[in-house]
Amino acid sequence: MEGEEVCGIVAYVGPRRGAELTTLLVGGLSRVEYRGYDSAGVAWTGDGSHPIMVVKCQGKIADLEEGLEGIENRLSGAAIGHTRWATHGDPNETNAHPHRSCRRHVAVVHNGIIENEDLIRRALRDRGHVLQSETDSELLAHLIGEFLNGDPLEAVRTALETVQGDFALAVIFRDYPDRVIFARRESPLCIGVGDGEYWVASDPASFMEHTRKIIDIGEDQLGVISASADPVIVDFGNVPVTAKIEEIDWDIEEAEKDGYEHFMLKEICRQPASLTDSMRGRLLPEGGVHLGGLLDHRDVLQDMQYCVLPAAGTSLFASMVGEILIEEIVGVPAVARNAAELANRQHLVFPRNTVFWAASQSGGTADTLSAIRRAQALGHRVFGLCNVVGSPVSRETDGGVHLHAGPEIGVASTKAFTSQVLLFQLICLYIRRLRGQEDLPWMGRYLEEMRRIPKLAAGVVAQSDLIRSLAERFYQGYPSFYFLGRGILYPVAMEGALKLKEISYLHAEGYPMAEMKHGPIALIDERFPTVVLVPQGDDHYEKIVANIREIKARKGIVIAVASQGDDRIAEIVDEVIYVPRVTYYLLPILYVIPLQLFAYHMAVLRGCNVDQPRNLAKSVTVS
Ligand code: G6P
Repeated sequence: MEGEEVCGIVAYVGPRRGAELTTLLVGGLSRVEYRGYDSAGVAWTGDGSHPIMVVKCQGKIADLEEGLEGIENRLSGAAIGHTRWATHGDPNETNAHPHRSCRRHVAVVHNGIIENEDLIRRALRDRGHVLQSETDSELLAHLIGEFLNGDPLEAVRTALETVQGDFALAVIFRDYPDRVIFARRESPLCIGVGDGEYWVASDPASFMEHTRKIIDIGEDQLGVISASADPVIVDFGNVPVTAKIEEIDWDIEEAEKDGYEHFMLKEICRQPASLTDSMRGRLLPEGGVHLGGLLDHRDVLQDMQYCVLPAAGTSLFASMVGEILIEEIVGVPAVARNAAELANRQHLVFPRNTVFWAASQSGGTADTLSAIRRAQALGHRVFGLCNVVGSPVSRETDGGVHLHAGPEIGVASTKAFTSQVLLFQLICLYIRRLRGQEDLPWMGRYLEEMRRIPKLAAGVVAQSDLIRSLAERFYQGYPSFYFLGRGILYPVAMEGALKLKEISYLHAEGYPMAEMKHGPIALIDERFPTVVLVPQGDDHYEKIVANIREIKARKGIVIAVASQGDDRIAEIVDEVIYVPRVTYYLLPILYVIPLQLFAYHMAVLRGCNVDQPRNLAKSVTVS
């Protein structure tokens, strides 16, 4: 399954040079800046008589443009550029791409993750390489430099044979200033075909203003572009691949959204990929868990007696799931707390050995940061679950895990929620093992289902059209909705209600299912629908059925999200969406997707601005 793309690559060979080449590279990079931007850079070969030149900077493409001011005329030869959204190492200038080999005769831009980076790093150091950055990508420049022996394509091919992981890369060589070598595995890359000029880019948006002719580079392929010949593409066995030139028939805005109508829809539908990325290299084949950001804190985790999970918005609901996971999988009491409420308390008392787990997609939420600082001032250890590398949460916490879910652009958070829920599970399994707790009999199936969760999520996403027809029934004439769930699905009900409020501006409330009869049911009538989350096999299934009958008895409309095969539920509710049956702890990941899609389609039908809803900000940096 293809990974979620986070960085942008653009490479060029052709007659343009100087200011024209600068504009072309900077323009190409700014077209993919929407994917995330914390640093950027370009490199070029010149005529091959000097080491490869590099200019890079922390910040946005505009900062790179500033860095190039006054030297635009020097750009010539084969050129590569990159905009980065950090997954390894801080987002600073040193970690920005392009990366060069020691002799500066090779430069690389890379998207993806090298899984055996530790091994390669050690081997390179042993062989005398001096590495500048903390990135896995720099290793590629050094490796390729080592293997260079008369044939740059062969050097890239041989170097990549030693690499495990994903990559899309573009490489330039001082001694071959007329060409760019490229390669891809699990990370998109394509060629733009101009008149005597070629591009290689992770996203056609980077060259679409110059050419609409495109060659898609297939999985596990590599090759060469040079101004004087047709592109060459081969597979890793060196067997030539026939390049097929196609015409792009969509516009730039569509390209950014990968053909989806909105970023939010793209982010919902790409959850199979973001979940894969969050799990990659962490859930090990034999069932162990590797979480590099917790390795140095094993003693604290072993002694951990209580957990507090401060967060806001969607991250708070993911943390409420986390609370249940920690209590049930690790057996340590835990509580999710609204970060602002926690930070504003005058007196805070926690047991000794309390550990804080602060989840935040953006890592910039002021309320969450206040809670983190408060916990640290009390002497507690704080770990982050954060999507944005280098963000305040990831800098200020003592350790933690990055979500690796890729940039989330839609204001309403979607894929960050499922990644946070997944990572809480990995954290719990990691701590369980660390504390020497035995594997329980059901855990084999649980792990097996966790590995399949991206595939299962893809099946739920595929029901988007069905959910749209459901929304068509409800988008007018129903001003309020309840969302009800029990146990681990209660936070999911809260999240479903929040999604509907945020983007469709309808009144929605999430409740624990049993609470309904203690007041909220008074509002039920034929214009007040209720969405109920019903997992089959749940100990409380009969109680859920009874709750549904209570609503039906008040003429309420019930929409159920239920487990595949649960035919009984279809007989008592008005509408059903089915999701696969999985282990209890994985339910939130599958049950939230129909709610995200329901909110999305309702908002679209109601003519709302889905990606930028009124009154909301992606990251609230004031408390
Ligand atoms: C804002 C956003 C929400 C988000 C919350 C927490 O309120 O509008 O969508 O869930 O902040 O953001 P965080 O980045 O900390 O997860």
